[in-house]
Amino acid sequence: MNTREKYQQHVNTNALKKVQPIVIERGQGASVWDESGREYVDLFSGISVVNTGHCHPEVVQAATAQIGRLVHTNSYLYHNRPTADFAEALATVMPSPPEGPGAAGTEDKALRVSFFGNSGAEAIEGAMRLAKQYTGRTEFVALEMSFHGRTLATLSVSGNWRRKKKGGPYLPGVAFAAVPYTYRSPYGSDPETCARACAADLERVIDLHTSGNVAAFIAEPVMGEGGIIVPPSKYFQLVKEILDSKGILFIADEVQSGFARTGKMLAIEHYGVVPDIVVTAKGIASGFPLSAFTTREEIAKAFTPGDHLSTFGGNPVCCAAALATLGVIRKERLVEQSEAKGKKLIEKLRGLAEKHSAIGEVRGLGLMIGMELVSDRAKKTPDAGLAERVQDRMLEAGFLLGVGGTYGNVLRVQPPLVIGEEALDRAVGAMDGALGAG
Ligand SMILES: Cc1ncc(COP(=O)(O)O)c(C=O)c1O
Repeated sequence: MNTREKYQQHVNTNALKKVQPIVIERGQGASVWDESGREYVDLFSGISVVNTGHCHPEVVQAATAQIGRLVHTNSYLYHNRPTADFAEALATVMPSPPEGPGAAGTEDKALRVSFFGNSGAEAIEGAMRLAKQYTGRTEFVALEMSFHGRTLATLSVSGNWRRKKKGGPYLPGVAFAAVPYTYRSPYGSDPETCARACAADLERVIDLHTSGNVAAFIAEPVMGEGGIIVPPSKYFQLVKEILDSKGILFIADEVQSGFARTGKMLAIEHYGVVPDIVVTAKGIASGFPLSAFTTREEIAKAFTPGDHLSTFGGNPVCCAAALATLGVIRKERLVEQSEAKGKKLIEKLRGLAEKHSAIGEVRGLGLMIGMELVSDRAKKTPDAGLAERVQDRMLEAGFLLGVGGTYGNVLRVQPPLVIGEEALDRAVGAMDGALGAG
């Protein structure tokens, strides 16, 4: 049996509409190669994971060296150096409290204590548990169209019925507030109006749809699976004021938007807000499974002996890869690269919108870009069929592209941040052709 046949026989792919019909053999930088040696430009980074590119030599070297020394002991039962080093480094990535790091009396507010897991969902679950224990409250508020993972608790706070269908009943004590999605907001497309109306809706939901016992509000600073939704610039400031006035924590889910993806180290930096807990995963270790929830000491202390553990969480190999990842992001200025390349790419993709009426909106921050496809621009009718056809044609043309969105009609362009301008230009050309074929 060849690889695809073995998948059909022995890998449960029934939860997917289809697996892309290629077998990926190796990857380097922004490209992968299939078994026949054909090269594909990766515009999706394994769902926004390999931000430093495939098999970055420094990440490979750090992981390989660590594999030769120590693969596993459990990072909570015993100390190990890579876990300690990465935990220290991760604290430097976190947004600083308003007074600035290290200023007198502010140290306790620094987000510097991390708990490591393996996946985004595991870290979100841990953050939810910690928020409950710290506040002594039990409920959560999340956003419509949000996505936080595939486990029971994370699906419970995900505002996406397509992901949730047939999986219920979900956890009680979860309420959903209006999504700040200017393209489709009932409050209109003006960002300021949308921000104010959606923040007001959050307050209304907390007051009327919960019992007032809310531990945390959880949100993605830029929403990934929902269709690369970028909330208006004022939104999170207005939200944080409401949350602070009610003693509710803000958990920022940076699983997809973090680690230089949006032209900032963390997407919440675009909003000038400091969350109480920040969850990271995906891009933090360039493809090695690692996640974290990071908070200030006062909140971290709400865990008492026996409350939490993870067998593989904070694995030394993954932490060594994560430390190297951070080094590469800084050395190669990937934050700046993401911002600059993203701006140019958005402009070029918006240029395509002048020619192709199927493009309803091009939006994004840095190299986290979405193109919303519609069959009727005036009515904004989602065209999921076209999104799928464009994805297929792009594959034929040698490009891996993501599709997502609440209505399945958003092309997701989230390439490795090291991608070259020439590859991006070729991708725009291919996209032009794929859209032109209807
Ligand atoms: C914003 C966000 N949170 C959480 C998750 C879950 O992460 P994982 O698949 O690693 O469990 C995802 C995955 O796509 C995500 O995009």
